[in-house]
Amino acid sequence: MKKILYITANPKPENLSVSKKIGRKFVDRVSEFGVVTELDLYDMYIPTTNYKYFESRASLVKGDEYLALTTEEQKDVGIIDSLANQFISHDIYIIATPMWSLSFPSVLKKYLDCIDINGKLISITDNKVEGLLNDKERHMVYIQSSGGDYPQIMARQVNHGLTYFKDIFKFLGVKGFHPLLIEGTEMESIGVESAMEKSISQFDKNIKKMI
Ligand SMILES: Cc1cc2nc3c(=O)[nH]c(=O)nc-3n(C[C@H](O)[C@H](O)[C@H](O)COP(=O)(O)O)c2cc1C
Repeated sequence: MKKILYITANPKPENLSVSKKIGRKFVDRVSEFGVVTELDLYDMYIPTTNYKYFESRASLVKGDEYLALTTEEQKDVGIIDSLANQFISHDIYIIATPMWSLSFPSVLKKYLDCIDINGKLISITDNKVEGLLNDKERHMVYIQSSGGDYPQIMARQVNHGLTYFKDIFKFLGVKGFHPLLIEGTEMESIGVESAMEKSISQFDKNIKKMI
């Protein structure tokens, strides 16, 4: 059984959100292959990466430095530690987000900055930073809805969420990257229904690559 982490980054409830509706349909399909844990980033506490929580670039404090923190701060360090542990314990990541200002809602970046911890997702040595998620076969499905339609050739110029997640997950060591784009939701020539139908028609192709 695969362990699947389904992460949503959208303040809208599911019935009003295109990305969450497609995310739900996709998760329902893949749930037969594993156990799904859901994280709604707008409905949980994500600590701000206070400099006091790190003893070097991305290593969580311990020992005296940890003891010098307030109870609230120690709690934050514990939350960061468990969010990172939760992330690395999964095999398949499904992120559902809208395109906002050519990328994605900032809470998603906040979450990633929070879990990108030395000794967990990454290893930092004197002369090298590398991802640690190449220890087993992992996959990432990036579900993104956008008002506009962005041809693949323009992705590097405008589709920054897509290219960012492709780059960062590759760096972390996640081998499979499977975009599921719902494009043109606000275009008269496409619209929500046909954008959703097109992305649903790509489910099987993506699932085959992952499982
Ligand atoms: C704050 C904000 C910023 C947006 N920025 C973009 C954008 O840069 N490009 C785009 O094509 N659509 C943009 N949109 C439109 C949404 O991506 C689009 O409506 C999408 O389908 C919303 O998905 P949702 O229903 O899951 O929220 C933006 C919408 C909002 C609310």
